[in-house]
Amino acid sequence: MFDLPKVKYQKKEELYIQLIQHVKGLIGGEKDLIANLANISSLIFNSMEDINWAGFYLYKENQLVLGPFNGKPACIRITLGKGVCGTAAIKKQTIFVENVHEFEGHIACDGETLSEIVVPMLVDGQLIGVLDIDSIKISKFDEIDKMYLEEIVGLIRTECF
Ligand code: SME
Repeated sequence: MFDLPKVKYQKKEELYIQLIQHVKGLIGGEKDLIANLANISSLIFNSMEDINWAGFYLYKENQLVLGPFNGKPACIRITLGKGVCGTAAIKKQTIFVENVHEFEGHIACDGETLSEIVVPMLVDGQLIGVLDIDSIKISKFDEIDKMYLEEIVGLIRTECF
């Protein structure tokens, strides 16, 4: 079993620089998408503070369908354009929500969630799925998270497709 890193950091950037190295190590030439998404969701869930869900929805049959994740059971199917995930998917843009209670149409899978970031996974401009991370803290995510999480999703794209 992979020994999960006990990431010590002062600044978010330091956490992400280490996380990205661990993502590269975990993928290690493996091309299987589901296996890599499973490991990456575990890595994020276990490395970041104040996170209550981290995982992926995959684009199938014109919907988002629950994929590998860590955290409590979640809703299985999300219509494009619905919730934070469906909105990020249809816009093909990362969305971070400082307070999910102020996001109209937020899909509450876990009442503890207060903020959320969703990063779409695109290959040649086509939607493959989304990375979704939920936090029990208000305003957990910002432009720095967006930048580094998009880099992680970029690694998935180049390594698995
Ligand atoms: N809150 C998300 C739904 C997915 S769960 O949080 C895991 C949304 O509004 O899209």
